[in-house]
Amino acid sequence: MKKVINLSVPNLDVEPILSNLRECIESGWVSTGGRFITEFENKIAVYTKSKKAVGVQSGTAGLHLALDVLGVKSEDEVLVPTLTFIAAVNPVTYVGATPVFIGCDDSLCIDPNLLEKFLKEECFIKNGVTYNKKTLKRIPALILVHVFGNMADMEKIMDIASRFNLKVIEDSTEALGTYYTAGKYVGKYAGTIGDIGIYSFNANKIITTGGGGMVLAKDEKILDRIRSLSTQAKKDDLYFIHDEIGYNYRMLNLQAALGTTQIDGLEKFIETKTKNYMRYKEAISKIEGLTLLDFNSATRPNYWFYSIVVDEKRYGMNKDKLLNALVSEGIQTRPIWGLIHEQKPYLKNETYGSEKAIWYHNRVLNIPCSSNLGDDEIQTVIDVLKSLKKK
Ligand SMILES: Cc1ncc(COP(=O)(O)O)c(C=O)c1O
Repeated sequence: MKKVINLSVPNLDVEPILSNLRECIESGWVSTGGRFITEFENKIAVYTKSKKAVGVQSGTAGLHLALDVLGVKSEDEVLVPTLTFIAAVNPVTYVGATPVFIGCDDSLCIDPNLLEKFLKEECFIKNGVTYNKKTLKRIPALILVHVFGNMADMEKIMDIASRFNLKVIEDSTEALGTYYTAGKYVGKYAGTIGDIGIYSFNANKIITTGGGGMVLAKDEKILDRIRSLSTQAKKDDLYFIHDEIGYNYRMLNLQAALGTTQIDGLEKFIETKTKNYMRYKEAISKIEGLTLLDFNSATRPNYWFYSIVVDEKRYGMNKDKLLNALVSEGIQTRPIWGLIHEQKPYLKNETYGSEKAIWYHNRVLNIPCSSNLGDDEIQTVIDVLKSLKKK
């Protein structure tokens, strides 16, 4: 049977992980307490040049906690991208609020120009609070996603957010390691610019803990509250006193046992992913009808996912046909997620400027990008992409 070249698989250093897991198991520290959680949190804080980080069970849990601590209520609306994995949007519904969908720009991230136009033309400000003209609902926050490891235009977005008094949640689940190399936010990592930033360590992410997430926040008090809410808001460990409603969202020591070794390898993973991206870029630029998307040139990206745009006329088949042809060759690829404004639970929600998101959705395929991808595997993908092009 032909060996499958997967899209994105974990790159795990077995020996140190086994040693950490053994320590968890032998000591009994397998749950929401233990030294690996603190160690992993400290390493993420140092890596991202943040004061503190709080480990949670998943990126989704982090997003839910972020909306909760920012005081998003059930009568509110929250601006979100339509081009994203649905986990960036569902937490808005968890707190009872309503997502309003905004389209993307060529980075695939939320388009700051559309965002500004929506806020200027469709909203009004009263006593420093932004409201939607149509629904009269308050809009207190915005969730943006740094899609596929790219960085959204944070300079424009933060400026707009401050003018309309919006809290900014940076869904950086795909962008751990991406940082600005130019402009106002030079040196700043994805997840450290908005009010709250979230990472995910799901199995397909650049580093993994199986499942897990981490939250950063500008305001340390907010982060302390997130930590408290993640452990059922327990104010007293002995008498179990709770003065608000919390969640069981704290990271496990077992998860952190993986994370603390994975973060040590992150820069090496990015180095490999950069090298592989460059190799693909060169080869794909010579295949008529295929374009490998660029990353934001003002950043050092983490090169998490490699997205090709398929021009049906010039390449000779559309992205769905190419996907199937690649599957027959043992090459796993993925289209962009179904756009969220077109998903059943959100069909009635307001959507603003989805044309570009639809355009990219119809043309983009992500090609194998694991940080442990072999040189021969990359060559196979390139050769197959070349050979499938219709003459
Ligand atoms: C954009 C985006 N947001 C949120 C999440 C949710 O993270 P998790 O799977 O850790 O809950 C993911 C990944 O899974 C994601 O890609």
